[in-house]
Amino acid sequence: MFNSVKLAPSRTSRSSRRAAGKSEALVVGLFTDKKLDAAVRALDKDRSIAAAVDRDECTGDSGRMVEAFPSGASAPARRVIVVGLGKRESFKPGSLRTIGGLLGRRLAVTKDQKVTLHLHSAIETIKDADTEASGRALGEGLGLISWNFLSTRFRGSASADKTKARKPDLSLSCADDAFAAGLEYGLGLAGSVNFARDFSETPPNVATPAYIADMARKLARQTGMKCTVIEGDALVRERMTGLVNVGQASENKPCLIRLEYAPRGKGSARPVVLVGKTMTYDTGGLSLKISNGMVGMKRDKDGGCAVLGAMHAIATVVKPSKRVVAYLAAAENSISDEAYRPDDVITFRNGVTVEVTNTDAEGRLVLADALIYACEKDKPACIVDMATLTGGVITALGSSFAGLWCEDDKLRGRLAQAMESSGERWWRLPMDQEYRDMMKSPIADILNSNPNRKAHPIQGAAFLSYFVESGVPWAHVDIAGMHTSDSDSGCFVRGSNGWGVRLLADFVAT
Ligand code: BES
Ligand code: MN
Ligand code: ZN
Repeated sequence: MFNSVKLAPSRTSRSSRRAAGKSEALVVGLFTDKKLDAAVRALDKDRSIAAAVDRDECTGDSGRMVEAFPSGASAPARRVIVVGLGKRESFKPGSLRTIGGLLGRRLAVTKDQKVTLHLHSAIETIKDADTEASGRALGEGLGLISWNFLSTRFRGSASADKTKARKPDLSLSCADDAFAAGLEYGLGLAGSVNFARDFSETPPNVATPAYIADMARKLARQTGMKCTVIEGDALVRERMTGLVNVGQASENKPCLIRLEYAPRGKGSARPVVLVGKTMTYDTGGLSLKISNGMVGMKRDKDGGCAVLGAMHAIATVVKPSKRVVAYLAAAENSISDEAYRPDDVITFRNGVTVEVTNTDAEGRLVLADALIYACEKDKPACIVDMATLTGGVITALGSSFAGLWCEDDKLRGRLAQAMESSGERWWRLPMDQEYRDMMKSPIADILNSNPNRKAHPIQGAAFLSYFVESGVPWAHVDIAGMHTSDSDSGCFVRGSNGWGVRLLADFVAT
């Protein structure tokens, strides 16, 4: 939609935070009671805004837009867009995320490039309304809708110029400090989400484990983080059994990527650890995926993409005062005569033996390596892993909530707070010794999948629990139903949506 969306550079004074010259569009807010706030009424010298609000098409419903075209020397802009903010009584800042998406789509049509946002005065008429959170959500929406990857990176000579043409830049200004600060934060977060979406969409012949490692190294260089990659013989030496076995059929060799964000003076404090399943392609292995089940499995790396995006946000936007360590367990689950097979028994670094019953339950095997390693080396304050782990979680929860397992009340509370602020929702599913027992193997310690076909998403979580040191607060998030959008709606377009970046960024910020 846009090449870039930026907040116009501001000097400190309020009046100077406006795009140079007369703004091409002014955006004001309106609730369903259709009462314009005093600040907007003061701008409405020729009463063209009031006239637009009077029209029947103007409802104030969330995201509904009508336009006014003021005339005369005192006109505040060429075009005024009156955006519906919904019912006054039930207003939530998060609603501005979708509104941002809709506004962005509209501005792409009207071709306005300098836009003054004046939504704060309507929002401030609500007691205790959080102006900064509102600005942040709008910034997220505008930033998310302006993601361009689908119309650029892999378009070739057969794509019309229109598709590939350079998009306009959008310059925003806002006279309210809190709203502007939120806007800046939200745009920054959206940039991190879009960074994750770029990787997610990158096809598997390009985005190999080595490619992801290169990108992680580059991110670390650019943002002052530390990046180390365990690969090749070192993976075997370090007994990264899951990665070695799952990755051994592919010419694109597996690796474990470690990123560390460390603010000054916090060197020895226990870090928050984030772990992401980064399967650059999942054919199912010898337990091959059938018919259409394989299409889209380039996105089986989206847990890792979310973690990488979150680290981007942490290093560039959130900048917390605590240490954060990320692991991306990257491999391609392929087939060849070297593939690991159903019936293999493999021994993990922590001594746990696993009987492989299904090579398509591969994500848990590579996550196990990262969980063991993190517990051993990093002494984590807590661990959150994110993975497109099971089709079963899509059956259970659809695309509305991710599945979450976390037996630690405090950690779960923080994740609930992050769900509230990010709008990325999860639903808790049970963990119990009965499920852990379901994973027992007749010949090894545990199975990677119980063929009884019961409670698949919970089996995945139960399996992982064998690799987290007891006492370490841990959460597992199964995002298989969440990481893609099926259609253009709100601030997302069909394709990768970067789910989890904002949840994790907000979690680390709490
Ligand atoms: N990557 C898949 C899960 C998945 C399925 C993600 C559909 C996104 C969309 C995972 O590796 C997998 O194959 N899971 C199996 C587990 C089963 C073999 C225990 C599944 O869900 O069928
Ligand atoms: Mn699989
Ligand atoms: Zn998978």
